[in-house]
Amino acid sequence: MRIVKLFDTTLRDGEQSPGASMTTPEKVRIAKQLEKLGVDIIEAGFAIASPGDFDAITQISEIVTQSAICSLARATEKDIVRASEALKNAKFKRIHTFIATSPIHMEYKLKMKPDEVIRRAVEALNIARSLVEDTEFSCEDATRSEIGFLKEIIGAAIEAGASTINIPDTVGYAIPFDYQRFVKEIVDFVGDRAVVSVHCHNDLGLATANSLAAILGGAGQVECTINGLGERAGNASLEEIAMTLKVRKDIFGGADTRINAKEIYASSRLLAETCGIEPQPNKAIVGKNAFAHESGIHQDGVLKYRATYEIMSAQDIGLDRNRLTLGKLSGSHAFREKLKELGFELDDEEFKRAFDSFKELADRKKIVYDEDIRSLLTSESANVPSEFALVNMQLTDCSGGVPFSTVTVRRSNGEEITDAAIGGGTIDAVFKAIDRVCGISGRLLDYKVDAVSEGKDALARVLVKVIFDEAKPAVMGHGLDMDTMKASAEAYIGSLNSYLVMKDRLRKVDRTLV
Ligand code: KIV
Ligand code: ZN
Repeated sequence: MRIVKLFDTTLRDGEQSPGASMTTPEKVRIAKQLEKLGVDIIEAGFAIASPGDFDAITQISEIVTQSAICSLARATEKDIVRASEALKNAKFKRIHTFIATSPIHMEYKLKMKPDEVIRRAVEALNIARSLVEDTEFSCEDATRSEIGFLKEIIGAAIEAGASTINIPDTVGYAIPFDYQRFVKEIVDFVGDRAVVSVHCHNDLGLATANSLAAILGGAGQVECTINGLGERAGNASLEEIAMTLKVRKDIFGGADTRINAKEIYASSRLLAETCGIEPQPNKAIVGKNAFAHESGIHQDGVLKYRATYEIMSAQDIGLDRNRLTLGKLSGSHAFREKLKELGFELDDEEFKRAFDSFKELADRKKIVYDEDIRSLLTSESANVPSEFALVNMQLTDCSGGVPFSTVTVRRSNGEEITDAAIGGGTIDAVFKAIDRVCGISGRLLDYKVDAVSEGKDALARVLVKVIFDEAKPAVMGHGLDMDTMKASAEAYIGSLNSYLVMKDRLRKVDRTLV
């Protein structure tokens, strides 16, 4: 059977999606899930971009053993050395270096002549090869590059030791039938000297189609992200590629990936809840409506014979709507079984914390759904060690009156502080009271609330995006509670805690990086 390698770049290109920044513990949690999903290579970040990226690559390298770990690096010595330092403890490591090869990028961005670009690529690969065995070279903006020049630089890169050659559609310009021909020409040129990889962006909505066309053209690796997250309109979606190969074996001659499809839903939920970017409801495979049949004719057909309207089942991706729900009488055994079923592996300490939170929730909520448990566990691991913890919050608001909030927080040294504020609305009053009590003021960029499951007693999941220092990127905070106001306060305090832990390690806004 022909195996196409899946190179997941959710933690690197995915994180370049506006508003998708993740903390190091969040990235580690996602990397563990990607390993479970069975991806071959995890691009864990861009080591030189920030101390935060460096930390994430280092920690993921220490924990993940089944997938290779990769760091991106520009074609410069300092980037490549930094990447190799971050990957030091990885069992399987890869350095991915790139330089632009299209006339427009070489002239206007790099301001380099083609010969110089080849020289830089060769030098970069020589350095990378002296540090690691597995090296990938990307010809940035390959689809707008001249094929003759591409062959020249690819030949030189292979000579210098590149084991994977990536031909990205950086600006999402390719059209499937044309890209298939283009990839085939490169595959024929490269032969068995290296693996040919593709990396497609979704600017024209064709990223998955182009990646699949490239597989037909002979590509041995595809680069993609969970939920299609990524720069601008996103990258090719991992779940769409993996499931197309499974469903249409007839077209792809049996080509497959090593993905365990039953982990797709869990991976999608974890990412969406971590960075607060929900896939659109009609998103293929993982959208809320992907397996929902609304029309009577469809429902009738599916009930009579599933294959009338379904080409795959929800269970194939690990989504089983008929699972047992839990309630306040469920004991630790049932809870442990449920966690196993949902794919969470916790050590004893984590299990105890999760069980306590579950019990607390089950006391207040009649039925605890799978989605509640997923959110509970994701939000537990999302907020970083806290300088401030919410102790108490009071709110007075009556229609027509002035919203007024009193907040008490406990500092990590045990000191409790109380203060109050009025606001234009209740959220404004709560967040202003938190600013006062913590002594630092944030600018709220985004606030989202949604119900985790059904029912009037559903848990409210709140996500905030806040700027605490105008020179630094925004940080996110998560809150989960049956009381929306309390969930909002938790989310805001969570974002402040994240900011305090990460402020020296955040990526500076640097337009020259990618
Ligand atoms: O889109 C792109 O060209 C990239 C490269 C760095 C591979 O992300
Ligand atoms: Zn990209």
